[in-house]
Amino acid sequence: MSNVITSPELAAAILKQGGLVALPTETVYGLGANALDAVAVAKIFAAKERPFFDPLIVHLADIDWLPRVAAVFPKVARQLAQRFWPGPMTLVLPKTQAVPGLVTSGLESVGVRIPDHELTRQVLRLANVPVAAPSANPFGRLSPTAAEHVQKQLGGRIDAILDGGPCRVGVESTILRIDGDRVTQLRPGGIPLEQIEELVGRVDVEESSSADKPTAPGMLASHYAPRTPLTIVDQVPTTAPRSRIGLLSFQTSPSLGLFAAVEVLSPGGDLIEGTARFFQALHRLDGEGLDGILATRFPDEGLGRALNDRLKRAAHREPK
Ligand code: TXA
Ligand code: MG
Repeated sequence: MSNVITSPELAAAILKQGGLVALPTETVYGLGANALDAVAVAKIFAAKERPFFDPLIVHLADIDWLPRVAAVFPKVARQLAQRFWPGPMTLVLPKTQAVPGLVTSGLESVGVRIPDHELTRQVLRLANVPVAAPSANPFGRLSPTAAEHVQKQLGGRIDAILDGGPCRVGVESTILRIDGDRVTQLRPGGIPLEQIEELVGRVDVEESSSADKPTAPGMLASHYAPRTPLTIVDQVPTTAPRSRIGLLSFQTSPSLGLFAAVEVLSPGGDLIEGTARFFQALHRLDGEGLDGILATRFPDEGLGRALNDRLKRAAHREPK
């Protein structure tokens, strides 16, 4: 049974009634609920089996909605919003009373962004409520960049999936915490650090926290993980593996033929193209019944930093 829909009116009606709808964005699909309705928000945590200490991002249709959820909007935040919204950037700002503590895990701040996806902005306008939406995957698993990924992983647990095609960017938003005039990157993502620093000057980078101290967002040591064990390599190996190993390679290589399944993200080494295909490729490899996946490291610049961050968490295995 499929609950994939294409009508923004229907999606908005479900949201208004307190239901759960997976919504397309330019980054990944989000699992949306009315952010101002704590009961609706609680359903997100239940469907994803997400721990309550992990706060949600609130999605707005337009910048004039910001005062509904954020209490202050410092100058540097304005500059960033003007340049990068709608787009793959989340700003963490002091919250208003209207935002339930469940959305922010009890924090006094709220993560907000305006997604760069017309269909979803139309849903937001029709519903006329801010929408809390984490990535539409079970907690800790691979992020969904197509409606079918959501259908496969969460289909039976949510009211509907709005199909808006594949996600253009393919990696989650860059999260920036704003304290007065200070900007701290909490998670690398769809807007490279270089572009942010070009606009606002030096940005502090919060190093990833460990599993037992998950202060920073989406920053648990193990996250974005396929079921198949994943190992990061610097280069494609040139000798045949002994078992059924799949390869996720950024660029092309002469030894692709040695592997049981192969995904080349961008033959010419283009990070934008590689990012757009990243989760899609991991979903496919994870469905091949392989003994393991080898993934080549990305160049440590631009979008490559966000991809290396996701690879590191996908590869992490908790010590036994
Ligand atoms: O691109 C994206 O950001 C996607 C799409 C759906 O918008 N969403 C997404 O949500 O990646 P999620 O829940 O998978 O990751 C968002 C992270 C969470 O790990 C959460 O901890 C963090 O944002 N976050 C939200 N509010 C926060 C706050 N007040 N302070 C610190 N971190 C916050
Ligand atoms: Mg997520």
